[in-house]
Amino acid sequence: MESSLFHFSTNDNHTEQRWKDYKHLSLPSYLSQPRPDGLVPFYGFPIFSELTEEQKQKLYVAFTQFNAEVVIMLELVLYEGLKEFQSSNNDQVVVNAVKKIRWEEKLHTKGFLRFLKKETPLFPKTSFMLRNNTWLKNSFLTLVKTIPLSVALPAAKVEAFSVYYGKCLRSSYKENNLWVEVNYLHLIDESHHVSFEFDLFKHITSAANGFQKLKIIIGNFLFILLLQITFLIGCHRMIKYALPHLPRKKHIKTVLQLGKWILYGFEPYTQTRELIRNQFAKRDFFARSLFQFMHK
Ligand SMILES: [Fe+2]
Ligand SMILES: [Fe+2]
Repeated sequence: MESSLFHFSTNDNHTEQRWKDYKHLSLPSYLSQPRPDGLVPFYGFPIFSELTEEQKQKLYVAFTQFNAEVVIMLELVLYEGLKEFQSSNNDQVVVNAVKKIRWEEKLHTKGFLRFLKKETPLFPKTSFMLRNNTWLKNSFLTLVKTIPLSVALPAAKVEAFSVYYGKCLRSSYKENNLWVEVNYLHLIDESHHVSFEFDLFKHITSAANGFQKLKIIIGNFLFILLLQITFLIGCHRMIKYALPHLPRKKHIKTVLQLGKWILYGFEPYTQTRELIRNQFAKRDFFARSLFQFMHK
């Protein structure tokens, strides 16, 4: 297992150069190009045909910004959680691998922030995740600082989603733009992070005692719970922005429908489940059966 972590830490994807080039890259705005309807929330659901053109456009913009904001927030959480690992672990192979992933996440955060600043005029006044939920960010940070390994498996799922979302963007637009590019550069790194998280989880739990294992299980469940809350807050804010005048009952129903669309109507999420299922199937690790629901 250590060999795969070693391989991860020494594998050169030209990450540094790619992100350096990106800093000076000038590409058209995604908003200047024809809108791919497959990227508009509710596409393929009956409600989609009831939406006005203005509502579709608002949902499209909100969903794009929401994705960028979630990436930034969760990368910060991962960065901080793994910091604990780096300082508390004596195993040099683990430390080097963790150092590398933290460095990459920092580059990603800067890249997505550049996109937000340049191409999302709504931000920061209108925010779908990063602003006005300090309690959520603090809960995530407290959890990962207390139980660093609580981040590994849930992060792998979010990272798998980034990979398929990036691929979906590339195939949805006819020409390149800054949103496609930042997600493409991100997916090149993230495609290695998914198996890294599983390997790290297996490696650390194999040497953990009973009490530590219990803490890791609780930590992972709490992290997954916080992710669900993140997801619902995002759906609530996107609907509030795009369909502001819905009565309360209809609003809640539409928020839940949006959640359902992301989980079951949006192709990248279906592919994410498949990849996570394969990662589980490849390895035998502690409490594997307990976490199988993550790919259902
Ligand atoms: Fe990342
Ligand atoms: Fe990552």
